[in-house]
Amino acid sequence: MFACWPWRLWLLLLFATDCRSMGLRSQEHQRASRIPSQFSKEERVAMKETLKGAIQIPPVSFGPEESNTTALAEFGGYIYKVFPTVLSTSFNQHEVMGEYSHLFTVQGSDPSLQPCLLLAHFDVVPAPAEGWEVPPYSGLECDGFVNGWGTLDDKNSVMAFLQDLELLSFFISLGHDEEKISALLQSRGIQLTFIVDEGSFIFDGFIPDLKNPFAMIANSENGSMNLMLSVESSFYLPPPPLQTTSWGLCFSSRLEQTPLPNMFGSWTLTVTLEQLAYELPFPANIILSNLWLFKPLVSRYLERNYITNAMVGTTTALTMFNAGVKVTSLVLSIRGVGTVYSRQLFQHQRIVADDRVQFHVLSAFDPLPISPYDDKALGYQLLRQTIQSVFPEFNTITPGNDFITDTTNLTTGIYRFSAIHLQPEVFRSIHGIHEKISVQAYENQVKFFFELIQNADTDKEPVSHQHKL
Ligand SMILES: *[C@@H]1O[C@H](CO)[C@@H](O)[C@H](O)[C@H]1NC(C)=O
Ligand SMILES: *[C@@H]1O[C@H](CO)[C@@H](O)[C@H](O)[C@H]1NC(C)=O
Ligand SMILES: *[C@@H]1O[C@H](CO)[C@@H](O)[C@H](O)[C@H]1NC(C)=O
Ligand SMILES: [Zn+2]
Repeated sequence: MFACWPWRLWLLLLFATDCRSMGLRSQEHQRASRIPSQFSKEERVAMKETLKGAIQIPPVSFGPEESNTTALAEFGGYIYKVFPTVLSTSFNQHEVMGEYSHLFTVQGSDPSLQPCLLLAHFDVVPAPAEGWEVPPYSGLECDGFVNGWGTLDDKNSVMAFLQDLELLSFFISLGHDEEKISALLQSRGIQLTFIVDEGSFIFDGFIPDLKNPFAMIANSENGSMNLMLSVESSFYLPPPPLQTTSWGLCFSSRLEQTPLPNMFGSWTLTVTLEQLAYELPFPANIILSNLWLFKPLVSRYLERNYITNAMVGTTTALTMFNAGVKVTSLVLSIRGVGTVYSRQLFQHQRIVADDRVQFHVLSAFDPLPISPYDDKALGYQLLRQTIQSVFPEFNTITPGNDFITDTTNLTTGIYRFSAIHLQPEVFRSIHGIHEKISVQAYENQVKFFFELIQNADTDKEPVSHQHKL
């Protein structure tokens, strides 16, 4: 749902925990030492105030190499101040990487088990300049919402993870070990059981007729590509501007208008729809739970609207056009389900069908393989169980698709789920003016990860309760 960055230089706060054993040796011991996620009034107020403080710091990244380093350093100082236990206990190993990123390693008694990773970033893109009712870095609270830039993307997750670590640190005795993030983890040959990253939510009121909110754990991602087409002006006589401009416009409209293959059925959207079918009234329930029969119908229906069309296929948009004296070029942004870039490149070359046109791939991101969501998928089932215990009222949990340009080799289980309960108007505030999070939603997020971390501390395989057809 977020398209945070076209490049991948996020500042990451990474938090690794040994999923299967957090320093608690036996199962009896584990049950006895489970900490309930019932926070006192004082703790809840402190949580909220701590989040507001984080919103007030502007660690803006202007581009791949340009950040407000003053604010980044200030943010680092801030977490030292508000989470003294996390940073001072010997239970958590804390490493600062690339000057401003943080890695916390919490490891248990059995180092042979694979760790998992919670991932979040605290930098923000520049806030839209105008139109804010509440200043973007105010963290002001009104009507039960904390307002400001980064409240949903993604300072909330950074603060929630640390808050949980702070609360848990008081109780759990943990060993420590040497782990690091992404490239670093890879260079050390570490494999993770799963990764939980920002992304999907609990959706409330997004689908008309759906009785209850539903939680979507995103386990796949769209691919994307920026493609530059260029042509030497001398091929098209007489010289510019007119001819080359019309060349560019002609190809871009040809590309935008040529439909690319509909991928419905080959992606998790079908599973998402089948799961939601149980909650929908007639006839949608019958249609969606019998996709073997109605797939062509549903597929055509989804193609009709540009929002749903983007869920079943690839979209091409012109982002830059430059009619120069020597060279004319245009840049296309291609995104979508199953966008494997070598295939896209081939398809676009075929549509253009002119060998004087040169193609340059500026950046490309293939879709990630679908992360497992069957009964044996530990990460998926732990998320499910935790959703069921923390949000028992949201009875539909479904895998789904998300768009985020970040990738890693560390695990086959990458799940996007922020545990935030969102209504459409709050959802629209992400990356727009009036970004805000409800105090309740933030408390639930803290509670969710507090439970998840503890649920992960188990030797038992989780039990699945998926709907069966
Ligand atoms: C950078 O952050 C500091 C606070 O840490 C702020 O005072 C300053 O205005 C910021 N600079 C820019 C260019 O945003
Ligand atoms: C990518 O995935 C999401 C979720 O399924 C979808 O809403 C979005 O429209 C997709 N397509 C593009 C072009 O980003
Ligand atoms: C994944 O690992 C392979 C080799 O193990 C490496 O060549 C590749 O660059 C890695 N990809 C990413 C995205 O790190
Ligand atoms: Zn983000």
